[in-house]
Formats: sequence, C-alpha cells, structure tokens
Amino acid sequence: MKDPHTEVSAAEAYMESLAGEDELLLGIRKAIREAGMPEVSVAAGYGNLLTLLVSLSKARKVLEIGALGGYSGVCMARGLSADGKLTSLELQPEYAELAQSHLAQAGFGEQTRYLIGPALDSLIKLKADGETFDFFFIDADKGNYLHYLELALELAEPGAVIVADNLLLRGRTLNPDKNGPAVLAVREFNRRLAEDPRLMSSLLPAHDGLAVAMVKKA
Ligand SMILES: C[S@@+](CC[C@H](N)C(=O)[O-])C[C@H]1O[C@@H](n2cnc3c(N)ncnc32)[C@H](O)[C@@H]1O
Repeated sequence: MKDPHTEVSAAEAYMESLAGEDELLLGIRKAIREAGMPEVSVAAGYGNLLTLLVSLSKARKVLEIGALGGYSGVCMARGLSADGKLTSLELQPEYAELAQSHLAQAGFGEQTRYLIGPALDSLIKLKADGETFDFFFIDADKGNYLHYLELALELAEPGAVIVADNLLLRGRTLNPDKNGPAVLAVREFNRRLAEDPRLMSSLLPAHDGLAVAMVKKA
C-alpha cells in the first residue's frame, strides 16, 4: 500500500526531470551506488538551490555537516567564488575520501577540506579555534540536529545562511505514531527554526523537506 507521507508527487517528479543534473553529478550518484553507500544525496533540485543560495549570499566560508559522496559539496562549491572555501564534516573516513575525490574531479580540491569524526567534536574544535562561517548545510544524523543548529548559531557570522535537509524524515515527522528520538529531535528542530527570534526562516515541503534560514543581523 502506498504511504501518502512518502509518495513522490507528480509535481516533484516533474520539477526533478527539469533539474538538469550534469554528468559529474550523475557520476557521483553512480559511485555512491556502486560503493554500496546509502543513496541519500540531496535531491537534484535542492542541489541546484544550494548552488544558487551560496552564490546569491556571496558566501565565502561554507560549512557542511554530512558529506556522504560529495554531491551537495560539489553543488555548494559551484556557487563559491575563487577565494571561497568549503569545510565538510564527515564521520566515515571512506565517505570523506570519496567526497574529496569528487570535489577534486569537479575542480574544487584546493578549496575544500574534510574534517573526519563526529561532527559535534569537529564543531566544538572549530569554535575553539575561533573559526566563523557564513553558510551552513546541516545534513547528518538527525538526532543531533538541535545541537548542530545551536553550534551553527555560535559559529555564524551575522547574515549567515543555514540550510538543513530531511525535515520530514520520509513522513515520520508528520506521523503521530512515530516518536523515536530522531523524530522528536527533528520536530523540535523545525519548531525552533520557525520560532527562534535569531532567525528568519522558510520551511520548504518538497522532497524530504528543506529549511532555509538566515541569521538576523543585529
Ligand atoms: C544524508 S547523508 C549526507 C548527504 C550529502 N550532504 C549530500 O547531499 O550529498 C548524511 C551523512 O552524514 C554522515 N554522518 C552521520 N552521522 C554523523 C556524525 N555524527 N558526524 C558526522 N557525520 C555524520 C553520514 O556518514 C553520511 O555521510
């Protein structure tokens, strides 16, 4: 039986058919599939949105939480100017290695660094080192989303953009029978994004749900 919470709508399928994934991005999806890694890269249309947002915001210091095979990393790097940098946090060394190879293949090897290990540890170290960022993409373990948001706010420059994927958890967020720790964390994360006075936010319902927020300038 079809689950109305997870069904891809005709509108989403139509828009995705127009998203125009190029050979490099299709190659990343293929490499992820062939390596037996989870096929959970961002949707093609949202990948385009990441490129657009990095470019529009003129971000120069992008922080990604959750690299997988580098699909979203390439999308964001494509929006950077030549002096922009991408820092990507990834738990699995072999995923980071594959992602790094794809960023190099796309011509962004010199603009990218990978920090391997639990993202919480890397974020705390980045903060201790006094680093700041003007664009964040949160896309790792959902149970930590609230922590990632708080640390992003601490690392953010005024006006920084915060994007987060999988707000709908393939329907679990909306399903009152699902109340596991990741679901509760994401529901609270969504509420916080909508209500936090430090943020201006928009929650986009297509695909698995995407948040786009901006840290208000004082
Ligand atoms: C949804 S995938 C990221 C997809 C990627 N952003 C893209 O769209 O191309 C989530 C990634 O987060 C990583 N991850 C999970 N838990 C993590 C943690 N505690 N710290 C850092 N990375 C983590 C996973 O290994 C996986 O590669």
